[in-house]
Amino acid sequence: MTGIARLVADKKVVVSIGPGGVGKTTISSLLALEAASRGRRTLALTMDPSRRLAQSLGVRPDAEFGRVTERRMREAGFSPKAELAVRLLDSRATFDALVTKTAPSEDAARRILSNNYYKSVASSLAGVHEYMAGEALLSSFEEGAYDLVILDTPPAEHLSGFLSAPSRLAAILDSSGFKSFVMMDRLSFGFTKLFTSVSLRFIEKIVGIDVLHDMWEFFSGFEGVGEGMKARARKTDELLKSPGASFVIVTSLREDSMANAASWRGELAAGGYDVGGMVVNRALFPEKRRLRDKLPKGFSGHKGLASKLESNYGLYTEIADAEHDALDRLRREFDFAAVPDAGSDITALSDLYGLRKYLF
Ligand SMILES: Nc1ncnc2c1ncn2[C@@H]1O[C@H](COP(=O)(O)OP(=O)(O)OP(=O)(O)O)[C@@H](O)[C@H]1O
Ligand SMILES: [Mg+2]
Repeated sequence: MTGIARLVADKKVVVSIGPGGVGKTTISSLLALEAASRGRRTLALTMDPSRRLAQSLGVRPDAEFGRVTERRMREAGFSPKAELAVRLLDSRATFDALVTKTAPSEDAARRILSNNYYKSVASSLAGVHEYMAGEALLSSFEEGAYDLVILDTPPAEHLSGFLSAPSRLAAILDSSGFKSFVMMDRLSFGFTKLFTSVSLRFIEKIVGIDVLHDMWEFFSGFEGVGEGMKARARKTDELLKSPGASFVIVTSLREDSMANAASWRGELAAGGYDVGGMVVNRALFPEKRRLRDKLPKGFSGHKGLASKLESNYGLYTEIADAEHDALDRLRREFDFAAVPDAGSDITALSDLYGLRKYLF
């Protein structure tokens, strides 16, 4: 059994991480399909899949939740033995649920949720996507309805982006600047009196009184929620460090991406997290056949086309050979699975099935 096969067979939580665009969503979808094929009730928490991939995974447009039916899995080549549920990670919906769960009272939660500043800005605060991915993982895990939860994460430039974003976000919501803003209310300035101060009247001129009022109400509503959020972030971190959890690092062969992958591996291990696998995705595999044997019989193309094809193919072969050598060198350093570039986007379950043999 390959390392990655062991993960989908044994673990309770698998998290795919990596820089932008390397294939985290694609690879985690494949891991989920494989887990269900191995008889594990699986939930895939997925982030921003393309519309066509989401549809292939059974999520209808505008829906948040889907299920890959047994029939569709079979048609694509998989042999499903357990259910596969898919949830699109929607930061806003998860944030709403979290506010409801952690606000000191129902009334406080209602005030935050209906606040305009919250509605327009909340999902773009730094760290929100990472925090929400972790929160969605924890709450899905706590539901206890699945043998395995697979989490696809937002693109990260630094590992700390994913691991420490939650506590940083809680700190923003708790920060002293906002606290003092709120404290003014405590000192019974009240909102209207607050705005008699010269500096605030200046800000008000720029952003408008409604915006300031909404911000003021938003941060006062969040008083106390930060603590609850920090506690949830700590629990998520404990889950990620537990023996049932493992990370899969996805990377491309680009030098910066590989360097990230190598250093993340070290950082994760040093932090007490398990790295169960590495995937080098979209590598160009050398072609075994000559171009002539790949073209349709009798192909001559219009004038010049055949020679252009020939030169492109030569170039492709050169790059593929170089990538092949690079993979060989890397293999001496660490263990990974190499997945080839399929030549076009991965949108159908059968496309994912085509990549299966490289991981399992
Ligand atoms: N092995 C592959 N062969 C061909 N295309 C691929 C392969 N893996 C991924 N792709 C394509 O590359 C694009 C990016 O893949 P994907 O969305 O999985 O990356 P990601 O790491 O999740 O991106 P983001 O960081 O933006 O979330 C998609 O169009 C996908 O279809
Ligand atoms: Mg993605």
